[in-house]
Amino acid sequence: MCGIVGYVGNRPSLGVLIGGLRRLEYRGYDSAGVAMIDAGGRLSTHKRAGKLNVLTEELTASPIADGTTGIGHTRWATHGGPTDRNAHPHLGDDGKLAVIHNGIIENFSALKEELVGEGFTFASETDTEVAAVLLGREYRETGDLTLAFRRVVGRLHGAFTLLALHEDQPGVVVGARRNSPLVIGLGEGENFLGSDVAAFVEHTRRAVAIGQDQIVTIRPDAIEVTDFEGNAVETHPFEIDWNPAAADKGGWSSFMAKEISEEPDAVANTMRGRIADGQVSLPELDGVGSVLADADRVLILACGTAAYAGMLGKYALEKWAGVPVDVELSHEFRYREPVIGPRTVVVSISQSGETMDTLMAVKYARERGATTLSICNTQGATIARESDAALYTHAGPEVAVASTKAFVAQVTALYLLALHLASVRSHLDETQLRDALDELGALPDKLRTVLETAEEIQELARGMSDTRSVLFLGRHVGYPIALEGALKLKELAYIHAEGFAAGELKHGPIALIEPGQRVFVVVPSPRDSNSLHPKVVSNIQEIRARGAHIIAIAEQGDVAVLPFADDVIRIPLTAALFEPLLSVVPLQIFAMELAAAKGLDVDQPRNLAKSVTVE
Ligand code: F6R
Repeated sequence: MCGIVGYVGNRPSLGVLIGGLRRLEYRGYDSAGVAMIDAGGRLSTHKRAGKLNVLTEELTASPIADGTTGIGHTRWATHGGPTDRNAHPHLGDDGKLAVIHNGIIENFSALKEELVGEGFTFASETDTEVAAVLLGREYRETGDLTLAFRRVVGRLHGAFTLLALHEDQPGVVVGARRNSPLVIGLGEGENFLGSDVAAFVEHTRRAVAIGQDQIVTIRPDAIEVTDFEGNAVETHPFEIDWNPAAADKGGWSSFMAKEISEEPDAVANTMRGRIADGQVSLPELDGVGSVLADADRVLILACGTAAYAGMLGKYALEKWAGVPVDVELSHEFRYREPVIGPRTVVVSISQSGETMDTLMAVKYARERGATTLSICNTQGATIARESDAALYTHAGPEVAVASTKAFVAQVTALYLLALHLASVRSHLDETQLRDALDELGALPDKLRTVLETAEEIQELARGMSDTRSVLFLGRHVGYPIALEGALKLKELAYIHAEGFAAGELKHGPIALIEPGQRVFVVVPSPRDSNSLHPKVVSNIQEIRARGAHIIAIAEQGDVAVLPFADDVIRIPLTAALFEPLLSVVPLQIFAMELAAAKGLDVDQPRNLAKSVTVE
């Protein structure tokens, strides 16, 4: 949470900072601020509660002196409410040093007490201001920002990315990171810092990820990275393969509408180059190949939507690769005593690759001897670097806070992994493998067909904008989709929603059904010999008999649902395991359209941030 950007170079910094913050705003949007060393060599700071627009409108109305060194911040509040005073940057006591921060400094109360004892005063309720005052104090003694950082970071507990600049050191921005992300963008005569590459991808495609417990100093023509003790660290630049235009709305009403429209490409790009001659080829897993072949268990760790993708991965890995799979929420995993061993493969899933709960769970599993493989969408992400192997999804930047295209890309990556394991472990024969790969290959076109139902779903959503509660039911692979449909509706439209395994209804939730209760039902294909179709149709009848209003998501040609459904949304025919990749899309569109009908901001729902980098 919180987006951070830093710049030193040869052009006015304000435009670079605001552009970077706009691309990082998905990380938090409670307040925004910038600090620059202006042309007269003075530190100037501007910050406002509210979304970035509040700040930019003010800066447009009263332009400020710009410079070529600056830092910027967009906040998701942790310590202290979203007010002007608590917005970043925060200043050292002499007003010459400015600091921005992402993370939580857990021992800030003790540090603050110490500083108050020394006579320092504080203007905000934040943990960040403690770091600013400490840095100011050390700067006075060392006269150098990098040295001041080295003295301060050892005193801070918790998670932080900190960036600072000082009026007496124009052309220098210094940063440090522990358990929160930081990436350098390498330019010509200019350099950038950002929470992720989106902050500067429109200016440079070369980047360096900063490792754990490292300090970075950027100048227009040089970067220096050390560990917290000051030992030089070798850097490994990488090329960013995101098209900068992919992070713009491109004429769509929202990032979410655009990202849903990109789902066929997200699936196609995640498969691209990974299927050849009826086999899945994943060379990035070569280093862990023997462990994968011999694994006695797979443990999937993720949060939220990524965890629902993980549930689908379980069905695929068990069916195709014959390996037992457990799926756990990352934040529940490491606070008990989970049994993991050298033959456990931990697969973590994270769009951002920065989710603190998942990062900590991966580290915990690795320390206990598990082999770790991450499925991430953001290049250079911490979780990918902390894992033994990484399998990237290629969904492109996902800017809307609620995840859509990343979900279908995650499921695609998991299915590729499952089919890869199926051949490594000889669990599927050639024909079965080829059939599954053919189905996977046909998905982008089928997704395009689903997207054609958007208007119909928009109509449905508009008619339900006064709805106070919606239930979602599914069985087998339809169950994670019911959970995901409910999550999307809660977070986008602020409507009470719950997803259930349809078989669980009679064990309690059916008591919720009363006349008019809206219920979405994900209906499996009747063509599959093991199909749960008759059972789901019975479930529909049971709730229909109690007055529920049924919206069925069913495959084309399924007429058995017609007598019992009030509305039917059709998806193209595919094999059972692939249905969720299609049936999730109408639910995403529904939640988005219902939120839009209520006049809500679908890209930035209240209280949320895209990268959850605090526990
Ligand atoms: C919901 C949503 C979240 C994320 C979760 C994990 O729409 O986006 O539930 O899926 O916070 O985030 P990542 O995938 O970045 O680890």
